[in-house]
Amino acid sequence: MNPLNHVAIIMDGNGRWGLKNKKSRNEGHRAGLNTIENILKETIKQKIKFITLFTFSTENWNRPKKEIKYLFNLLENFLHNKIENLNKKNIKLKIIGFKNFSPELNKLLRKSENLTAQNTKLQINLALNYGSKMELIETFKKLKKLKKKFTEKNVSKNLLTNEIPDPDLLIRTGNTKRLSNFLLWQLAYTEIHFEKKLWPDFNVIDYKKIIKKFKSTKRNFGKI
Ligand code: IPE
Ligand code: IPE
Ligand code: MG
Repeated sequence: MNPLNHVAIIMDGNGRWGLKNKKSRNEGHRAGLNTIENILKETIKQKIKFITLFTFSTENWNRPKKEIKYLFNLLENFLHNKIENLNKKNIKLKIIGFKNFSPELNKLLRKSENLTAQNTKLQINLALNYGSKMELIETFKKLKKLKKKFTEKNVSKNLLTNEIPDPDLLIRTGNTKRLSNFLLWQLAYTEIHFEKKLWPDFNVIDYKKIIKKFKSTKRNFGKI
């Protein structure tokens, strides 16, 4: 059985769910929060140590201002309301992305990370203003500046995901089969599951099925 240490999720389909069920994309984003809570609980139950959630991509800035504002409001409220609770549950929160938000949000993110930095049960990585191509470019620039060799180890150590093991399993909900600029380097040997359900419809039973299948998949890493 494969050990499962790190799950990454592209939580896609909120907008379509909202339009279909509530006639507003933003309602879909709100509904998606429930799924996050349920999936986090199951992740702890499964004793998985890392979960990375694609929350906002560098390309998502191209959406209408109103939707962006709604998404960031949801995030701020989530952190305000839940961070103490996450801390009590021994959960560590880390932001993966380019942290150039409003001073208030930057402060809230820093506070949330600092508060939970020593926690050990589960690490939640929120990929926020994250884009893999930009991450790689910044990493190469950094290595050049430090006059370090472009080795696999040096690249890995200087990515935004430094100190986080590569994902074992990637799940993308929302019935599209693409990576959308997510963790291109880190997913090199990750098992990928594309899920038809939209994120707000995705549930713990679906999640458990995917994990079960992952555990019995033969991972070759180039060997036979
Ligand atoms: C994913 O859902 C959430 C974010 C990008 C923040 P979408 O908003 O992309 O939902 P669809 O794909 O339009 O349905
Ligand atoms: C990927 O979903 C980003 C997040 C889930 C945060 P998108 O909905 O932005 O991806 P594309 O644009 O359909 O590829
Ligand atoms: Mg989408």
